[in-house]
This record gives sequence, structure tokens and C-alpha cells, in this order.
Amino acid sequence: MVRPSGSGKLGSAKLVLVCVGLLGFALVADFLWASSSRFASSFSSSIPSDWASSHDSSQNTLIFPRKDEPKDSSKLGAAVVKSKDAGSGRVLSATFADLPAPGLNWEKMAAAPVPRLDGAAIQIKNLLYVFAGYGTIDSVHSHVDIYNFIDNTWGGRFDMPKKMAHSHLGMATDGRYIYIVSGQYGPQCRGPTASTFVLDTETKQWRDLPPLPVPRYAPATQLWRGRLHVMGGSKENRHTPALEHWSLAVKDGEALEKEWRTEIPIPRGGPHRACSVVEDRLYVFGGQEGDFMAKPGSPIFKCSRRNEVVYGDVYMLDDEMKWKELPPLPKPDSHIEFAWVVVNNSIVIVGGTTDKHPVTKKMVLNGEVFQFNLDTLKWSVIGKLPYRVKTTLVGYWNGWLYFTSGQRDKGPDDPAPKKVLGDVWRTKLKLSL
Ligand SMILES: *[C@@H]1O[C@H](CO)[C@@H](O)[C@H](O)[C@H]1NC(C)=O
Repeated sequence: MVRPSGSGKLGSAKLVLVCVGLLGFALVADFLWASSSRFASSFSSSIPSDWASSHDSSQNTLIFPRKDEPKDSSKLGAAVVKSKDAGSGRVLSATFADLPAPGLNWEKMAAAPVPRLDGAAIQIKNLLYVFAGYGTIDSVHSHVDIYNFIDNTWGGRFDMPKKMAHSHLGMATDGRYIYIVSGQYGPQCRGPTASTFVLDTETKQWRDLPPLPVPRYAPATQLWRGRLHVMGGSKENRHTPALEHWSLAVKDGEALEKEWRTEIPIPRGGPHRACSVVEDRLYVFGGQEGDFMAKPGSPIFKCSRRNEVVYGDVYMLDDEMKWKELPPLPKPDSHIEFAWVVVNNSIVIVGGTTDKHPVTKKMVLNGEVFQFNLDTLKWSVIGKLPYRVKTTLVGYWNGWLYFTSGQRDKGPDDPAPKKVLGDVWRTKLKLSL
């Protein structure tokens, strides 16, 4: 968040002043926020304050702004960047800013039957299985929709088990069976479940698997060497980062063991990371520490914002079974658990969230497409999305990169989250070398 680049005493003194200033701003803001929240709730308990339904365009619109936020954040952002450019000493990192990215031609396809925030998706051949997610902050989906990349249509809806979580799921596939781990059960910021399932995509039959030792929110999940690995995520309070790493031997949709095995803990915990296995190596990308939490005592487990720090860290496990750190993403990136594909030994990551705005403190979405070449270990920014978007669901078919669902920004000049979508977009994927 605050990263000094100057050295020496003057730089440190400046930094301290800035920190004190920011702290003061945060305290005043928190006070105003607390009062305005009490004010709002004393008049109408139906006006959500932290993560509110907006009524200006659609009932499926979710917004995150806090009541104390200045209205025009884009101008403030510009001021911060300008003072940095003017050489007045770099006191605020600009990781929240958009990166230069080549334009791409995006084609809009048939929208999903429902909009989804924090849904999950797994591609098997030409089909993208899209699971769960919030429709609004007060309602969640408990079914699967399927997108067919051959005829570009949606269809084949079927129900999820009643006990399966509705968001923050961990998920992986072997090409037929989809393994589904833990997650949040219900809307708002409700508690998690440890329940774990497997779906046979050929018969559409669900089966139970041994539950996780304790529940997790959005843990990194992947199949590797015949075992289902589950790493990090948030602990039961939704906010505290977990470092634990477990695995379970599985084959053809069945657990070969009764209990999860403890594995080497992950160097940094937290939810909302991309996790993939390529050429027998396990990779974990980005993510965050901290998340929204249920407001204490709230009967509806109302979401309230807590501090979050977003990371660009990349970790890898190979034969040695020791985590190795690889070059970080071009900027911190979270909410990307189903926003990636692997093509030609590169991982391609779409959108996400990054550092919050340093002045307005609003959540900031990413609008770039990132590529990490697993041969050269080099990152590139290979394109710009039609809008910034988080927890989008990504697939790849016959040269086309697809994304659907998630929560988009307020507009080109405002990267804060707003509308929840079911839209589908595609572009011809051009990888850099
Ligand atoms: C992947 O590699 C194949 C074979 O070299 C090539 O034909 C194809 O265009 C590549 N795909 C992308 C998206 O670059």
C-alpha cells in the first residue's frame, strides 16, 4: 500500500507524515461511516450500507462503496498519479492504476441465464460448467448452467446438492469428474461449510467426499499427482488467512482415503487465487489476505468491509515439495480463482481486483489480460477487457478466449465494482512469446 522509493531520513520522515495523514483520514472516515450507518439503519433496515443493492439500473446491481467515500474518485486518483509524475517523491504506489494494454476486438455472445458474482466454472472439452454464485447479495444460485463453445449457446441446467456451498468454492477436474470443496453456504457473508462433493459430468450424478478438516472460503484447489490439493483460503470467520494445505487421494470420482492428509503449508494464506497444474508442477497466483465479514450480531450475516491486502505473489511446488517463489504478476491480482486458462504452456489470467484506491479506499478492479509464460517465467499484459471485472469465469476454445459473469466496474473512469453480469465475451487469443 505505502511503498517508499526514496531513501534517507527526509524520505522516512515524509513517509511517516503520510502514514499519519492516511491513518487520520481512515479514523475520521470510520467515524463518519459508523454514524452514517447507524443513521441509515434507524430509518430503514432494508437499505444495505456496506455492500448495497443499488436501484438505479437493475436489481442485480451490487455496489460496495462506503458512505464516507468522496463522490469523485477519478479526480483524486489523477491527482495522486500526477504528483508522483511531477517527481515530488513517490509516496503512494500506483498499483491500483490500469496498465497500458493492447486493445482487443471483443465479440458479445449470448448472455448466461442468470447473472453471477463469485460463481465457479470448470471447462471440460467444449463445455463450460458454471456453478453457484450470488445473484444479488441477498440471493444465491444453487444450480449449474452449461455453455457450449461449439454452438455458443447456454443449456442443460441442473441442480446442485442442497448442502453444497453457493460461493467461495474450491474446484478442480480430471476431465470427467469435478471435485468441489467447502465454500460459503448462503447469501451475504454467511458461514462456510466443510462439505465436499464430486460431480460425474457424464451421468450428472453427485457424490459426497470426506469433508475438509475445517471449512475454508475460496481455497486454492487443484488435482496433482492423483491427489486433490486444498491450500490457503480464509478461515471460518471469512477474514483470517489460512496457511493450511491438505490433500486427499482420489480416482475416478472416488476418495481412496477416509481422511485428508496434512501437506506443507502455503507461504502466504488467503482466498481468491488462481491455481493450476502444468507439466506436473503446481502453481498458485495472486490472491489476498482479509475479506468482507459478517457484521457482528447481524441476523442476516450482513457483509461488512474489512481491510484486505491484495498480492501478486506466485508460488510453485515441484518434486522437491518445497514452495518456490516465481516472478510476481504485473500488479497485485485477486478474485481470479476461475478467471484463467492454460494455453501453449502459458497461463492467461483475466481481470480481478487489485490494491484499493489509496485515497478513496474503494475496491479497484482490473481490466487487463495477463499472460505468464511457464517456459520463460515472463509476464506480459496481452490485452484490455471491454470493462474491468472480478470473479469472472474463463474458458478457451479453438483460438477464442471467453469470459462470462462476475462484477464489472462503474465505467471507464471509475474502477470501483458495480453491476453483476451474465454477459459472455470472446476474442481471438494472441499470446506473446
Ligand atoms: C499455440 O501453439 C500452436 C502450435 O505452435 C499454434 O498454432 C497456436 O496458434 C498457438 N496458440 C496461441 C493462442 O497462440
